[in-house]
Amino acid sequence: MKLNRLFAAALAAVALTSAHAGEVEVLHYWTSGGEAKSAAELKKIMQAKGHVWKDFAVAGGGGDNAATVLKSRVVSGNPPAAAQIKGPAIQEWASEGVLANLDAVAKAEKWDTLLPGVVANVMKHKGTYVAAPVNVHRVNWVWANPDVLKKAGVAGMPKTYDEFFAAADKIKAAGLIAVAHGGQNWQDFTTFESVVLGVGGAKFYDEALVKLDAKALASPTMTKSLETFRKIKGYTDAAAPGRDWNLATAMVMQGKAGFQFMGDWAKGEFLAAGKAPGKDFLCAAAPGTANAFTFNVDSFAMYKLKDAGAQKAQGDLAAAIMSPEFQEVFNLNKGSIPVRLNMSMAKFDDCAKLSSKDFVDTAKTGGLVPSVAHGMAISPAAEGAIKDAVSQFWNDDKISVAGAQKKIASAAMTK
Ligand code: GAL
Repeated sequence: MKLNRLFAAALAAVALTSAHAGEVEVLHYWTSGGEAKSAAELKKIMQAKGHVWKDFAVAGGGGDNAATVLKSRVVSGNPPAAAQIKGPAIQEWASEGVLANLDAVAKAEKWDTLLPGVVANVMKHKGTYVAAPVNVHRVNWVWANPDVLKKAGVAGMPKTYDEFFAAADKIKAAGLIAVAHGGQNWQDFTTFESVVLGVGGAKFYDEALVKLDAKALASPTMTKSLETFRKIKGYTDAAAPGRDWNLATAMVMQGKAGFQFMGDWAKGEFLAAGKAPGKDFLCAAAPGTANAFTFNVDSFAMYKLKDAGAQKAQGDLAAAIMSPEFQEVFNLNKGSIPVRLNMSMAKFDDCAKLSSKDFVDTAKTGGLVPSVAHGMAISPAAEGAIKDAVSQFWNDDKISVAGAQKKIASAAMTK
């Protein structure tokens, strides 16, 4: 008799958790070493809550491929439970009426008190939370291999473009590649937006690349930015076209190249390879941008699903993403900093601590700007058109600076 009762109790317990357990299919594009390691932390937390994690990873840094696949899934009436969506794209998806309302979790977990206003606003559509923020990446970084700098006789990380090009010349003279770069348009724009920020400053960046002001786009400052951007191209290698961003990071890691302009997900690659900041690699604000911070906040939106188990899993996913435990372990791996306020930075390295300090300081000084390259600033349509104009200029030396400036200005009108 006792055994039966025990067996029945066990069955009930399984039934209870499975009634609340659900499958959560998550679309993301974190497929490099550091990214995958970070995504695995979210999977672990969800599995510990009894949910089934269905990984829907779409390769292709920067997320363009993932966005295409996501559209086809939603249009065919078969959306994933959650998808890596950020910035203005969240508003576009929310306007379609397909995103789940996360206010119940956000209120229960007091997200409004835990998020910087600039981030909370991006996660809301008409005042309702429709996405959960994961992190704060800083984009305006340059990564370097200290051994390459030493070999080339470069004293330290360049703070200005005069210092940068002098260092690049020395690295080239030492027979190494000065700038490791890859071949997607988001990589070109990651470099371009850091150059605009460094040449023109945060106010000009905002006028030209966020407000898309015609005068700013036609200004001598934009001309100088494009000239500086083109000059950087001369320090990349012929095999750059088509190269993935993390393979460019590997070139710096292996001492084949001196510098890489890249957001701090690059740090996730160094860390995943067991490299130590300050010893095996250096991080510094891109030239001229030490008092500025180009932010890129990854986030997950949940799609409306009918199944109660799936809805429960979505709520648990949103709560897990903003939990202190996940915020720490994920960002330690990803190279970003926690988006949740008042998190201890004790376990984070000096690059992250600088990022955390600068995020707060630049929010006060006006140096905090959204990354255009990473979908935080303008409509996806305008972003795509401007990225293409900039990449055509980067890839074709026959396009003049004046010609590119005109193309960017007309691309900026794309609705
Ligand atoms: C960014 C994304 C980062 C990283 C990077 C390279 O857009 O926000 O998390 O994945 O692309 O793929």
